Amino acid sequence: MQHKNFSTKIFLDSGNPKETEQILSELGFLDGQTTNPTLIAKNPEVQKRLVDGLKFSADEVLRFYREVVETISGMMPAGSVSIEVYADKNTTARAMIEQGKKMFSWIPNAHIKLPITHAGLEAAEEMVKEGVRVNMTLCFSQSQAAAVHAATQGAQKGQVFVSPFIGRLDDIGENGMSLIENILRLYSSGDDHVEVLTASVRSREHFLRSLQIGSDISTAPYAILSEWSKEGAPMPKNDFKYDPPNFTAISYQTLDLDQPWQSFDLYHPLTDKGLERFAADWNALIM
Ligand code: G3P
Repeated sequence: MQHKNFSTKIFLDSGNPKETEQILSELGFLDGQTTNPTLIAKNPEVQKRLVDGLKFSADEVLRFYREVVETISGMMPAGSVSIEVYADKNTTARAMIEQGKKMFSWIPNAHIKLPITHAGLEAAEEMVKEGVRVNMTLCFSQSQAAAVHAATQGAQKGQVFVSPFIGRLDDIGENGMSLIENILRLYSSGDDHVEVLTASVRSREHFLRSLQIGSDISTAPYAILSEWSKEGAPMPKNDFKYDPPNFTAISYQTLDLDQPWQSFDLYHPLTDKGLERFAADWNALIM
């Protein structure tokens, strides 16, 4: 299958290079891949090791992560591969920068995932100036997305992604897809340097809706991309209507992207919860 005739870039959300290989053979293309600590913990080799009662040293687990992203990068040298720093609520910007720069040197096509917290944005501001590509993760609000835009002013197009996690908003009864629409609308008054990456995609409907509204990037798990590929990788039909259950819509906020990033409200409970989960999943791998 040749590359599609629509604008959204298609990424695989997985920590398993076998899935990359499989999707590449089914779909014929991939524009990139996103990984995170939870996805690395789900990698079958990691799982086997844990079942055998073997954990990793801190160095070993990083080496394993590096091998995974090297393998993926080799399969799609022209794509983007997101690698996430370890961060919990006490991790400083300096510690994220140190890790992130090392990870950025692992492969030529990395985007470094940093959480949208005060420390994460401070790290992003500095790293972007040094030419590092970043993917700002655990986004659950428009004001967090505005802060990402403001903190990374001056970046090249394609250098910065923001990743709203829509499935986790659905989980608390809010319509996650409406946040993507709001951020796209907010950014339409900006300079286009941040790309919106729809993440935490849980269903075919989420995925098709992200194409329909023109998210810059959509990342989906293997099963969703595989099913879509079997259908011939279509754009949603004209009559496709995204019809989520009885969720609360997230209303649009008017925000000024030219304000300093520190002036935006960075707090969202799901960001804190997401950080805790990533850290716990990673720490569970280490002796
Ligand atoms: O793309 C981010 C993703 O891996 C998180 O997904 O299903 O854990 O909310 P989920």
